[in-house]
Amino acid sequence: MITPKAASISADQVLKQIEAASERHFLPIVGPHKGKILAAEVRKAKPKHILEVGTLIGYSAILMGKELDESAEIVTIEIHRGEAEEAGENILKANIPANVKIITGDAIEVIPTLNGTFDFAFIDAEKTEYFQYLTLAEDKLLKGTVVVADNAGIFADQMRDYLDYVKNSGKYKSRFIRVGGDGLEISVKL
Ligand SMILES: C[S@@+](CC[C@H](N)C(=O)[O-])C[C@H]1O[C@@H](n2cnc3c(N)ncnc32)[C@H](O)[C@@H]1O
Repeated sequence: MITPKAASISADQVLKQIEAASERHFLPIVGPHKGKILAAEVRKAKPKHILEVGTLIGYSAILMGKELDESAEIVTIEIHRGEAEEAGENILKANIPANVKIITGDAIEVIPTLNGTFDFAFIDAEKTEYFQYLTLAEDKLLKGTVVVADNAGIFADQMRDYLDYVKNSGKYKSRFIRVGGDGLEISVKL
């Protein structure tokens, strides 16, 4: 049996390996600084069903999944098969308590096919598509769902429709958390 402590040590090691790889050849992971805030939001919200858009090689899924228990699930969508496969290997290695389901495909096509509801979302794929991801998923997001959007600082111009929507539609309570030169938009569904 793997104790949560052992699992989290292993998860931390995999996260460190990915961070080191990212320094050798750039990988657009959320990284340790914004990741700390993302993990704190997950700890606070204690979600049971997380939707992630943009898996890459599993860094953020591991980061969130290590905060959860066995009853929680992360559904994560990645358009590129190679990245999705590498994510599967990293997630297996990290031995996190939460179940992770990786779906390979275009989130714009995949989100409408998802069953059930979500109580947390992390959006971190194509910046110009954030608004589409959110509106396609919106009916499946429970009241109180925390939606974290990465790169709301450096790519704010490309995400303008998304940012306008979460700030001004009246459907979310939204705040920007600056981290270095970038930041996270954290929106709670009302
Ligand atoms: C910034 S990276 C994700 C990083 C990851 N969340 C992390 O922090 O470890 C963005 C990922 O989104 C994927 N992506 C881009 N457009 C997508 C789409 N329409 N559907 C699914 N994945 C997409 C890219 O292939 C890339 O792997």
